[in-house]
Amino acid sequence: MRDLVRETRLSAANLVAPLFITEGDSREVVASMPGVERLPVADAADQATALALLGVRSVILFGIPATKDAAGSAASAADGVTQRAVRAIKAATPELVVITDVCMCEYTDHGHCGLVAPDGTPLNDETLPILGRIAVSHADAGADVVAPSGMMDGMVEAIRAALDAAGHERVAILSYSVKYASAFYGPFRDAAGSSLQAGDRRSHQMDPANAREALREADLDVAEGADMLMVKPAMAYLDIVQRLRERHPALPLVAYHVSGEYAMLKAAAANGWIDERATVLETLVSIRRAGADAIITYFTPDAARWLRDGTP
Ligand code: PBG
Repeated sequence: MRDLVRETRLSAANLVAPLFITEGDSREVVASMPGVERLPVADAADQATALALLGVRSVILFGIPATKDAAGSAASAADGVTQRAVRAIKAATPELVVITDVCMCEYTDHGHCGLVAPDGTPLNDETLPILGRIAVSHADAGADVVAPSGMMDGMVEAIRAALDAAGHERVAILSYSVKYASAFYGPFRDAAGSSLQAGDRRSHQMDPANAREALREADLDVAEGADMLMVKPAMAYLDIVQRLRERHPALPLVAYHVSGEYAMLKAAAANGWIDERATVLETLVSIRRAGADAIITYFTPDAARWLRDGTP
């Protein structure tokens, strides 16, 4: 009876698996994210195939380059780590939707999401053409969706124009529309090597105290041509997920259950303080209930297996 009248469904098809790709040829553990590894390109392709067999439809890729510089120039290289990973995954599992994170922070030596002035101020408008080039290089490699995560004003419009000019009209844009300046990203910066050398991201990432501003951010992205919207992080921002669901009913909405949210559940479960499977599935269904169509989560492989094996 409970199953018959259930309002919200969670399935592997709702989950997106983040993959960290390294240029090296061995897997590297991420200390603050138990169960997550940085994968060489070939291993990432194998992992993507295994996920597809579990019913997962999509992966989002974060490349970790061997070299960084002030302009993040490795980010748009045709043979860059993300571009090679896209090609390998699309060759192995063409039906999988490949999303790429479009940002400069993994590629810059200072760790900022774009070009910065000597005093550390982000240079928003100067960064936009670079984001366009990065997105086109991902699309050239075969990405289905590009996901700009740097919260630069005008990024969706700039990327849409660059993609269209390069003949990639069919590549979609998933905008990290509402991204808070959150302490929950800590483990990700460890995984992606994107910690800031100086300064912070509060000039462009949102104040956790603001909700109405989130509507404005989303409205701007929709006007600029975003195909899907994202709220990030997820658990502490379910009110924002719900508001965006109501504000833009026609657009797919994605929530990013981020690294710190993963690490907290993992740590409590490892100590025997909570039941991992039960708390993770409860968390994910709550994010769906709030209004997210899809959830980016590091629990994707485990959750897909648990969902396949059924409720205990
Ligand atoms: C930026 C980016 C970040 C995350 C995803 N894309 C880091 C940041 O904004 O500092 C965080 C994801 C997570 O914490 O799981 N490229």
